[in-house]
Amino acid sequence: MCGIVGYIGKSNAVPVLIDGLKKLEYRGYDSAGVCIFDGCKLTVTKCKGRLSNLEDKIKDDPISGNLGIGHTRWATHGQPSDVNSHPHTNKDMTIGVVHNGIIENYLKIKEWLMSLGYEFETETDTEVVPHLIDYFYDGDLVQAVMKAVDKLEGSYALGIICKNEPDKIVAVRKDSPLIVGLGKGENFIASDIPAILSYTRDVYLLDNREIAILTKDDIKIITQEGLPVNKEIFHVTWDAQSAEKGGYEHFMIKEIHEQPKAIKDTMTSRIMADCDDIKLDNITLTKEQLKNIDKIYIVACGTAYHAGMVGKYVIEKLARIPVEVDIASEFRYRDPILNEKTLMIVVSQSGETADTLAALKQAKESGSRVIAITNVVGSSVAREADDVLYTWAGPEIAVASTKAYVTQLIAMYIIALYLARLNETITIEEYREIRDEMLTLPEKAQIVLNQKEELQKFAASNYMHKDIYYIGRGLDFAVALEGSLKLKEISYIHSDAYAAGELKHGSIALIEKGIPVIALATQSQVYDKMVSNIKEVVSRGAKVIGFAYEGNCEIEKTVNQTVYIPKTLDILAPVLLVIPLQLLAYYTAVEKGCDVDKPRNLAKSVTVE
Ligand code: M6R
Repeated sequence: MCGIVGYIGKSNAVPVLIDGLKKLEYRGYDSAGVCIFDGCKLTVTKCKGRLSNLEDKIKDDPISGNLGIGHTRWATHGQPSDVNSHPHTNKDMTIGVVHNGIIENYLKIKEWLMSLGYEFETETDTEVVPHLIDYFYDGDLVQAVMKAVDKLEGSYALGIICKNEPDKIVAVRKDSPLIVGLGKGENFIASDIPAILSYTRDVYLLDNREIAILTKDDIKIITQEGLPVNKEIFHVTWDAQSAEKGGYEHFMIKEIHEQPKAIKDTMTSRIMADCDDIKLDNITLTKEQLKNIDKIYIVACGTAYHAGMVGKYVIEKLARIPVEVDIASEFRYRDPILNEKTLMIVVSQSGETADTLAALKQAKESGSRVIAITNVVGSSVAREADDVLYTWAGPEIAVASTKAYVTQLIAMYIIALYLARLNETITIEEYREIRDEMLTLPEKAQIVLNQKEELQKFAASNYMHKDIYYIGRGLDFAVALEGSLKLKEISYIHSDAYAAGELKHGSIALIEKGIPVIALATQSQVYDKMVSNIKEVVSRGAKVIGFAYEGNCEIEKTVNQTVYIPKTLDILAPVLLVIPLQLLAYYTAVEKGCDVDKPRNLAKSVTVE
């Protein structure tokens, strides 16, 4: 989703902003722009399309200056166009603003400002902000910003500069992420760490309703009421290279290959061979508290929701606590039953997904306890939850989530085992069996990665299809949903996943001669039933690629092509099974020539509703 970068210092701001915006490209955008103070005036250069268009525009009409703000926009209010691109300014071009989020009451503010004679050029919600600051401005930018944000409803991360006060950037956030980077003789703002990681590793993570005032030598943070805030510096431990492609053609394929390490890192120091304890430093839920919990909600969006579906199966199976899985955007509006007996587990790679964050807040307001599974240290979700279980996947740049998903699965197993041990619903022998098998997953994931040929073959002969279906039962169905999402989001092929036993209740009508069906068959309890379901689609002309455990040659009799994964415990199969599905989606998108890392219409971090 939209990206923000701001710079104040001794260097030319333009290359710093462009470089930072490039690092945020993965978030998804449709236009870009910068606003630069050149020593006497603010100049805005912005346009629709890729950053390269903006670079060409700046080449044709060069600008430079030591103060600037930049933005990549993902359109919400008003179509992607030059005029709707950020930054936006007031009429006399003395105030420049970049914004992430949605100003929900912008129409009311706009009408009011128009009644005072203000004129608007764009269809955006953001344009009210520079005009509102202009309205309140009487020589003190910080005061004007404080008064303006007081009128705003919705979510915002704002970067603001003013021609009359060119010694500062003012930044403020509410429900949309924003960080401040500490440099030497220069300082930065950004919506995400990679944007400024080439310049500094020391950052402040702004909290809701905090205002940062940056000069080149100083950073002051205050509340929206003007009270000083003492913030700890957050030191980023991963380096800029982890956010680079490292020789791979795309981030997505690099991240797929990083999965064995990500799985291992997420387990490290939590579950260990020959140790019967699960060590969860950031989870403080006690046996007594757990006794009081009668229901768990897992709430998330997209891929994280699919990880939640696996979580439901394994928590119910191991810990014997009823679990409901909810899509966050549905959960928040369906009047869910939440109280102090409810435990909510929110799952979010970015930790900034607006709907997930809203569900979390709702749970907390109702007295429920919240555990967050997230990949981003210090993210909003991590800060708002009672307990956090970090996935150690490292930065995930490709819009299509891969390594975050498998580490979310690992986190789910860890939580399920932890709850099961507290609840005494598994024996120590059962725990040891699962633990020992989990510790083999990194190695087995590597074996899966080494067998790509069958998937490349499938992609090469099926990329031209308009529809591809996925079927599975039990945990295989949960993985089928994720495989199908992966394929549709990066290859734009229409795809759906079905619980195989449900096919004959309607969806089998879609099966016709030659249609590719991806059939997942790892779950032993329903294996025979799954084979029958495969036969049902084969007999209606489907071309089936079956996924099963090594050694199960039986399946070859029923399907057209087979992909094997190493044998593991059925409950752990999703970790290995999803990898060939990610590869299959990847190779199919590459065959089609799609923009794999930045699929159309999608954003990496969905910070608006
Ligand atoms: O950052 P989050 O995990 O909260 O994001 C949730 C979804 O937006 C995300 O998983 C999305 O579905 C991905 N594009 C899937 O690949």
